[in-house]
Amino acid sequence: MTRAESDPGSRTGGASPAGKDADAVVRIRDVWMTFPGKTRDKDVHVLEGVHAEVRNGEFVCIVGPSGCGKSTLLNIVAGFLPPTAGQVTVEGKQVTRPDARRIFVFQENGVFPWLTVAQNVGFGLQRREPTERDSIVQHYIEMVGLTGFERAFPRELSGGMRQRVEIARALAAQPSIIYMDEPFGALDYLTRLKMRADLIRIWQEERKTILFVTHDIEEAVQLADRVLVMTRRPATIKEEVKIDLPRPRDIDSPDYLRVRDRIFDAMGIDRTTGRSGEGESLDEKSVVPGL
Ligand SMILES: Nc1ncnc2c1ncn2[C@@H]1O[C@H](COP(=O)(O)OP(=O)(O)OP(=O)(O)O)[C@@H](O)[C@H]1O
Ligand SMILES: [Mg+2]
Repeated sequence: MTRAESDPGSRTGGASPAGKDADAVVRIRDVWMTFPGKTRDKDVHVLEGVHAEVRNGEFVCIVGPSGCGKSTLLNIVAGFLPPTAGQVTVEGKQVTRPDARRIFVFQENGVFPWLTVAQNVGFGLQRREPTERDSIVQHYIEMVGLTGFERAFPRELSGGMRQRVEIARALAAQPSIIYMDEPFGALDYLTRLKMRADLIRIWQEERKTILFVTHDIEEAVQLADRVLVMTRRPATIKEEVKIDLPRPRDIDSPDYLRVRDRIFDAMGIDRTTGRSGEGESLDEKSVVPGL
């Protein structure tokens, strides 16, 4: 019996201490974040001592209840927001601002409506020589399944197709790391399943480092090598779950369900009522599998 068969999702009991993993490209060290309120007692304490690491080529998902600080953490890691305390380093350098070598994919409205699909995908490639740019653009349009739509404008596309444009644009810029904040959150269930499968196929071809935020536990288990589970606000990373299941993942297999349930447990969610141990109902999207 392989390890994947015996223990497809191993709990590591908390995030690795900073600096432990020599292969880490992203290091989040003791990050705290407070948004100031009008008065001191109105301050919003969002992150409280977050430690985490992401290795080169790894697909890491961050899950946590709605409003716990996932987007805040990703924005700090991507350099859009300075933390109140702590430090993020990427490839050994402290992050102080966004960096063009790392791309951020948003939930929606990431594409430029006045540009065609091909122009959107080629947007970050202005400095390339035109033939080279065209061939990169065509390559990624094909990879995301949009061949034939090169001249279409975003308004002529479905929501899923627009997200494909955004993913193609992110890949075409050939970043070392892709940050994704609920990129499929606005899509319907079936489109999301398809987008996840496609993203995994693309990731297997490209082997980019991906840090992906979602509140959908199913999504995290379908995608990730490792899932970081955040607590409620003020949040920290409570647990990390490694997922050794082969891809594409069979979402009905007992191993898959075991890992999924382990994450529900880590988040303290009762799977039948959707209630957490603290007696509050979580966002239903994080509770009802696949929704
Ligand atoms: N610029 C800001 N100023 C003040 N408070 C903020 C700011 N940005 C976020 N917050 C607060 O920080 C908390 C965490 O927000 P964040 O968007 O990071 O949560 P999230 O986990 O991404 O939620 P969701 O799952 O709904 O996307 C929320 O209480 C939010 O109101
Ligand atoms: Mg968010």
